[in-house]
Amino acid sequence: MTNEKTQLDKHLLIDVMRLDKFICKSTEYSLADATALIENRSIIVNGIVAIGATDQVHKNNIVMLDGKILTPRSFRYFLLNKPIDMICSNVDEKYPSVLNLLDVDRVSELHIAGRLDADTTGLVLITDDGHWSFNLTSPKNKCEKVYKVVLSRPISSDATKRFLEGVLLQGESKLTLPAKLDIIDSYNVLLTLTEGRFHQVKRMFSAIGNRVKSLHRQQIGNLELDVGIGNWRSLTDAEIEMLSVND
Ligand code: URA
Repeated sequence: MTNEKTQLDKHLLIDVMRLDKFICKSTEYSLADATALIENRSIIVNGIVAIGATDQVHKNNIVMLDGKILTPRSFRYFLLNKPIDMICSNVDEKYPSVLNLLDVDRVSELHIAGRLDADTTGLVLITDDGHWSFNLTSPKNKCEKVYKVVLSRPISSDATKRFLEGVLLQGESKLTLPAKLDIIDSYNVLLTLTEGRFHQVKRMFSAIGNRVKSLHRQQIGNLELDVGIGNWRSLTDAEIEMLSVND
């Protein structure tokens, strides 16, 4: 049994989902096809013809098409080691998307939970479970992300204290949340963040007069990067659970 298959039973469906999305997740139909099926009165929910594409269906509802009960596929969760010069986007732009590295079906249904810049390497989580990724990336839930940073100038003696107290990023009015700095040597540090503002690590070092030469995310929560550059694997049920935070 593949790792992807073992995820099937536990991570089926959040409690409620839009009917059109439920149909897509249970069939090969697109969102437009699903809307058309509802408009054509082909979808039955709990014995009644459904008429609203955006109606919510509960996981206990019985949704039928052509006399058959629709069962949604499980959500999928992947860990990937992002190489340099690839982007965390659903479409290729100046650089190709990291999603090109995943040889799985229906890649277009996936999204990246917590993006990295094109010149940043390391741990990226990819899923089609929007609820899970929203919670994971919300600063409210204080999930720790650990970055290995190579600096272009020696780290200043007050950097640990300043990051713990929070710094003001250029153009912003709110201090960054307390962040932990572990100094390996004067040019190499580990920075642990619980939020993910735009280019946050680079801007934090810029705020204290330094510059990031290279950046690598090596850990999210207790999950450490354990595949080679450009490789990926499915998360285990225990890892999905461990990274699931309550809303
Ligand atoms: N902070 C950055 O500046 N870049 C990243 O890619 C991630 C965090």
